[in-house]
Amino acid sequence: MLRFGVLGAGRIGKMHAANLAAASTARLVAVADAIPEAAEAVAEATNAKAQSADEVIANPEVDAVLIASPTDTHADFIEQAVRAGKAVLCEKPVDLSSDRIAQCLEVVDAAGQPLMIAFNRRFDPNFAELKRRLDDGVVGDLETVTIVSRDPAPPSISYVERSGGLYRDMMIHDFDLARFFLGEEPVEVHAIGSVLVEPAIGEAGDVDTAMVMLRTASGKLCQISCSRRATYGYDQRVELHGAGGMLRAGNVLESTVEVATGTGFSFDPTLNFFIERYTDAYRLEIDAFVDAVESGKPPSPSGYDGLMAQRLADAASTARETGQPVRLD
Ligand SMILES: NC(=O)c1ccc[n+]([C@@H]2O[C@H](COP(=O)([O-])OP(=O)(O)OC[C@H]3O[C@@H](n4cnc5c(N)ncnc54)[C@H](O)[C@@H]3O)[C@@H](O)[C@H]2O)c1
Repeated sequence: MLRFGVLGAGRIGKMHAANLAAASTARLVAVADAIPEAAEAVAEATNAKAQSADEVIANPEVDAVLIASPTDTHADFIEQAVRAGKAVLCEKPVDLSSDRIAQCLEVVDAAGQPLMIAFNRRFDPNFAELKRRLDDGVVGDLETVTIVSRDPAPPSISYVERSGGLYRDMMIHDFDLARFFLGEEPVEVHAIGSVLVEPAIGEAGDVDTAMVMLRTASGKLCQISCSRRATYGYDQRVELHGAGGMLRAGNVLESTVEVATGTGFSFDPTLNFFIERYTDAYRLEIDAFVDAVESGKPPSPSGYDGLMAQRLADAASTARETGQPVRLD
């Protein structure tokens, strides 16, 4: 039974705390938040203790720290936690600067503590099954990966201004999924983006509609399409095309009920947003982390995966700004 402390009791921290409190392999010991009342509310709901972040990290009853505070706190908290001898599960992205991530990973290596990055989509049962069948050779050698990722509605402008831009904030998940399926590093990044949804996003220097193409050294191609708007709900689909066929995972709907009338067929809406769509993935990600820490296996996705996804996001941001493809070593 791995004993956890959670840093950050916001949208995602609350959900992780509830999952930890319900997990049979984990125990939630303490919760911290910059707003003490937020930590107290989550602690009360989960039978844990509200402490400051420093107290959680120093708490001898805490074996592992789950970092769910804002992105600009992650690297410092990772370093503090591993130096205190704790295993760390950290929300994406590790940091908005690849250099800062690389520096942080050196501290993690020196401390010798496990670090896993919460790229939850790898644990989505449908995407994990796609990967299993790809690895089993069901469609032969992989040639192209197509990822569609659309949010139901744009976030607030204050969020956009601190997010690091669509490629680093939103598409970071898709870069990780792309690497997960491609099985080799992209070496070339093409990116275009537009402001089609919310003019204020453009005024903040970002885009709300974006496409990226990646090429690996062996020539495999990946196409990622992201939008901050989808009027029909959270749209999350992946298609893998190989020499021997195609594998596809579609959206998860609110129910499997299908209505047919004289005007045609209709289906239920997609699950609303990430908390609902990836419920199983968030739970399975914690199971994978606990299993890795308890068995001494290196956790996956690793800090290195966090760094590589960030490098792709940086390259895509540059490619969009310059209109030129970016080559990666
Ligand atoms: N994996 C995913 O699907 C996913 C989804 C959403 C957010 N995230 C990531 O999770 C992180 C948090 O996002 P969120 O949407 O929950 O944000 P949020 O703003 O809802 O919550 C963040 C919480 O952290 C608290 N906080 C701020 N500074 C702190 C500090 N120094 N110590 C402790 N607590 C502090 C805030 O008071 C707030 O309650 C971000 O890095 C984000 O990128 C990941």
